[in-house]
Amino acid sequence: MKNQTPTINIFEKAVRKVGKILARDFGEAENLQIQSKGIGDFVTKADLKAEKDLLDILQYYYPNYSYLTEETGTIIGKGEETIVIDPIDGTTNFIHGIPMFSIVLSKIIKDEITDGVIFNPITNDFFWASQGAGAWCNNKRLRVSKREQLEDCIIGMGIPHLGRIYDNYLQEIDQITKECSGLRRMGSAALDLAYVASGKLDAFWERNLNLWDVAAGVLLIKEAGGKVTEPSGMSWTLKSKDILASNSILHENIQKKLVISK
Ligand code: IPD
Ligand code: CA
Ligand code: CA
Repeated sequence: MKNQTPTINIFEKAVRKVGKILARDFGEAENLQIQSKGIGDFVTKADLKAEKDLLDILQYYYPNYSYLTEETGTIIGKGEETIVIDPIDGTTNFIHGIPMFSIVLSKIIKDEITDGVIFNPITNDFFWASQGAGAWCNNKRLRVSKREQLEDCIIGMGIPHLGRIYDNYLQEIDQITKECSGLRRMGSAALDLAYVASGKLDAFWERNLNLWDVAAGVLLIKEAGGKVTEPSGMSWTLKSKDILASNSILHENIQKKLVISK
């Protein structure tokens, strides 16, 4: 078992505290779902409250940091550190009573992602990584898969939906699905990336994402021995919207099949 860095200890405190509330809200959302009354409003409030609680805890420990959050936007601090927050990644799953969502935090110093956590409060999976300290889930060290043949692989992806459709997405899916053992559209990009880092998924691609969806996962994958680029093969940067992450062995093969999309 690896000793967590001080940053990860504070991140863990924050996500476990807020995770308890979200797990309770998740049960409540399931009830509202059955009644089909007020569900949207309830979840929006849960999302905003989770973010506020995370900010309260983190700003207590790090009052001078900058913050980039999905709901509040940007808070400019005094130093070079930024904490990036997605209070619920996988809101649609949350709304539908599917226990596949996560709280996501990462720390960035001068364009480098130094620490990240992804916490699923329902399964109690606490994924974390710090630069140079490896990627972990609870007490287990994570490694990407060693699979070499696409036919043996499961690939995670994001199917675009209402308002997020892009050209050629069906061809893109077609190129990959006919050569692998299965595609998965799980609905939390952060957990998708954590699953690639864990060797459960062999690769993942999605377009039109935000930094708060992926920053923690990018670090997890790098620390677990995987590779991250844009689907075009260009370097992934903090400004990238599109991502291809893999166990590294499969990377070029999958990347060649994705070039048709823009
Ligand atoms: C979403 C999830 C989903 C991805 C969407 C994201 P949200 O985040 O990561 O898997 O397909 O593009 O927006 O909205 O649930 O925080
Ligand atoms: Ca998200
Ligand atoms: Ca979110």
